[in-house]
Amino acid sequence: MSRILIVDDERSIRFTLGEFLRKAGYEVETAEDAASALRILGERPFDVVITDIIMPRITGMELLYAIREAAPRVQVIIMTGEPTAETAAQAVRDGAFDYLFKPITKDGVLRTVANAAKIKALDDERERLAAANLEYQKGLERQVDMRTEELRGAEAALQKTIEGTIQATALIVESHDPYTAGHQQRVARLARAVAERLGWPGDRAAGLYMAGLIHDVGKIGIPAEVLSKPGRLSKNEINFIRTHADIGFNILRTIAFPWPIAEMVRQHHERLDGSGYPAGLKGPDILFEARILAVADTVEAMSGYRPYRPALGIGKALEEIRRGRGALFDPEAVDACAALFEERKFSFEDK
Ligand SMILES: [Fe+2]
Repeated sequence: MSRILIVDDERSIRFTLGEFLRKAGYEVETAEDAASALRILGERPFDVVITDIIMPRITGMELLYAIREAAPRVQVIIMTGEPTAETAAQAVRDGAFDYLFKPITKDGVLRTVANAAKIKALDDERERLAAANLEYQKGLERQVDMRTEELRGAEAALQKTIEGTIQATALIVESHDPYTAGHQQRVARLARAVAERLGWPGDRAAGLYMAGLIHDVGKIGIPAEVLSKPGRLSKNEINFIRTHADIGFNILRTIAFPWPIAEMVRQHHERLDGSGYPAGLKGPDILFEARILAVADTVEAMSGYRPYRPALGIGKALEEIRRGRGALFDPEAVDACAALFEERKFSFEDK
């Protein structure tokens, strides 16, 4: 039910109009001048104010301006005793909803008040919806913030777990074979640098780096005497060492890494022409990650000292991968790797 405030210095008008509107279903209060109208408006909410224009002290027009300031959504209807069209029009220009000429007719007042009340109700509804919408949006934002926070926490915890797993795995094989320790780290760094040079997204390059850090984990299954034996190895010994690719896969395959790390490890000795091991995979059947690992592994192994031969240096190592470019090694990986060294963008000594 809409609430109406009638402001008029004439008691009879306040009374007659008030009774009439109450009977029409409105909640009505009255005020004898603008000052008490403003006081009442400050205390209780109203939808429509009907005010006389000529009153002692503060006029209806001044009251209109005061209401526009203090309660801009309240609809104001001006009543004027002398029908000067100019004043009424000015009132509407200044924000009054409409005007009524005295003597006011029942139909006229009912229609005008009903329209003003309807406009105010629509405005209230719009306001309510806007507030509800804002509240809903804030709620959504809070939920998104909370979920994001939770996800970040879970992601960080998962990242820690992955790194811990990788580190523990690397430590195990490094304690078994001292030559593997620095080798895995250097291969990992070079493989990541190659991937970055090829424009891989950071996350995929990170997965390759992780695989590099443990790519020789399968050597845990090979006796240390065989791994560090100086001089030529027998056919049997070579075949034995080659099992490290599958052993590594078996060690890692049940760990749910976000990258196919076990498969990268299994394939790091595969060669494009199918001459690699353990499966003799060809070209695109080999994971791109494993093709990069193959290049990085070869370059690192040749450039450094090994129990069975002296260090050959980067030059010889790059010659080797270039010789195998396209047949053994992925051409893109070879080119990127060679460029990294030749442009001095990478060195095994950097930290
Ligand atoms: Fe290996």
